[in-house]
Amino acid sequence: MIPESFIQELLNRVDIVDVIDKNVALKKAGANYSACCPFHNEKSPSFTVSPSKQFYHCFGCGAHGTAVGFLMEYQGLSFIESIHELARLVGMTVPQETRDPDKPTAKIVVGLQESLQHAAQYYKEALKKSDRAIDYLKGRGLSGQVAAKFQVGYAPAGWQNLQSIFPQYDNEALTVAGLVVENEQGKRYDRFRDRIMFPIHDQKGQVIGFGGRVINPEDTPKYYNSPETPLFQKGHELYGLFLARRAIRDVGRVLVVEGYMDVVALAQYGIEYAVAALGTATTPSHITKLMRQTDEIVFCFDGDNAGLTAAWRAAMNALPALTDGLKLSFLFLPKEHDPDSYVREFGKEKFEAEIKLAMPLSQYILMHLSADNPLQSQEDKVRFLNDAEPIMQQISAPRSAMYLRKKVAELAQLSIDEMQSLLKLPNLNKAPVQAKPKLTRTTNSLHKRFCLTMLMHPELAEKADLLWIVGNSNNELLLQKTIETCLEHPHSKPVVIMRALENKIDATLMRELERELNVLDETLDLAQELAGARQQLKQAYLQKNESELLAKISEKPLSAMTEGERELLKSFGSKPKSK
Ligand code: UTP
Ligand code: MN
Repeated sequence: MIPESFIQELLNRVDIVDVIDKNVALKKAGANYSACCPFHNEKSPSFTVSPSKQFYHCFGCGAHGTAVGFLMEYQGLSFIESIHELARLVGMTVPQETRDPDKPTAKIVVGLQESLQHAAQYYKEALKKSDRAIDYLKGRGLSGQVAAKFQVGYAPAGWQNLQSIFPQYDNEALTVAGLVVENEQGKRYDRFRDRIMFPIHDQKGQVIGFGGRVINPEDTPKYYNSPETPLFQKGHELYGLFLARRAIRDVGRVLVVEGYMDVVALAQYGIEYAVAALGTATTPSHITKLMRQTDEIVFCFDGDNAGLTAAWRAAMNALPALTDGLKLSFLFLPKEHDPDSYVREFGKEKFEAEIKLAMPLSQYILMHLSADNPLQSQEDKVRFLNDAEPIMQQISAPRSAMYLRKKVAELAQLSIDEMQSLLKLPNLNKAPVQAKPKLTRTTNSLHKRFCLTMLMHPELAEKADLLWIVGNSNNELLLQKTIETCLEHPHSKPVVIMRALENKIDATLMRELERELNVLDETLDLAQELAGARQQLKQAYLQKNESELLAKISEKPLSAMTEGERELLKSFGSKPKSK
């Protein structure tokens, strides 16, 4: 484990422009640098690198990240390797963690991330010691190599095995991380017992959760997953994505399957570009995430009825995310198969031949809509139109939408004009152009706007003086944490502040902030933006909590008040008492 303070110092020292320029030739373009994106095919440059933010971002495919992230993505390094590489570039030495040999784990401060990582390591070791678990995996045809690649592990039977690696077994982080469960009597025990463990990684390769499969067929449920945690949101994460990224990019395609074992078995047979949704339906957010890596997505679910249902849900969830450049298709396996069993029986070549024949989304939609509809009577056709309408409403990619409309009209025996006059369909000429999200008052909450600009100028936190705003909403926490972090790091680059903020605030909010930071227009007068946002925030809170605040502040002696509080008091005083 590398100390966080070192990573932050490193990120402050490194210049992302140098790092990327060594790999991809950059050209100066205004305040930023640009190039053709190394993460997708393009002819004109939409990849930008910002020296002031120390982030890269591609407006074309959405790829973005820090210098560390770039090395991981581009050179395929692990997180630790990237840190070492960057340290080498700027001549810093990565501190070795020093452990007290007598009490090897006692000093470990368990944070969420650390505890998950630590548990993964433990499960991996435990697998080596369990013949039973090894036999199970061997029995399923898993090679040692692929098990190692996916860091498959084993959680031994027993209630409190994790106590051996976490002396502070009552630490809250363990429950929050989903490793330990506390029952109503307050008794704590390991969540995963006697299960094969599949660690789930985020896009940086850090462990954020687990899926555990029973060995004993009598145990239920068959798979048990980590709960939703601040680090792990099932609707956003895909099993296997971290390991599959390179293959996805090389092949130009991603295969979405249902199960952990499907991903692992496919990889063993040389199909390394498969990922799985985590026991949930494929969400629009999954699709968007995959679209950043490739423009061809093939869904291949189990051949059973559950698989068919999952496929249709995936298709429906994909509609809002569709673009004209995206190719979505569906591969239906024979009833008795899942991708795991199919690839084992028929091998890579046959599987990939099937992938080539997968059914395009449009065809799938039409097939599904007419599956139990003979389209003979007038009533049949009306029902068909009714079923098709909500689907067509959700597709905004103009070309795809138009072709689907034509087909639907044909099947319903209407002209396209007749159909369009009947149904409420969005106007395709006005299809939204992919606009650069800007820092606008309407799209961003005040809190985010304030924090975003403060990130760019942490030295202004001193003056911002909004820490009197207290509350427990995500936005209020964001505000407090951002100000605190900026006060601690007044001369750091945004990348460092973001890093220090991670794990302190809601993950979804963090992602939004990151996205907005990446597209933030640096030509704006940010100091002025900040002042404006501060003023509005202040106003909003004053209105909300006027009397409460006033009481609190006036208890303090004048000398103990911050400048902001004095200013507040003054503005109260000058306000007319009657409304
Ligand atoms: P399946 O039941 O199809 O299992 O569940 P599988 O992937 O074929 O697994 P093996 O081959 O029997 O080991 C597919 C996926 O659904 C989720 C898991 O993510 C699983 O991989 N699932 C399934 C659960 O979350 N809980 C369950 O109890 C079962
Ligand atoms: Mn299976």
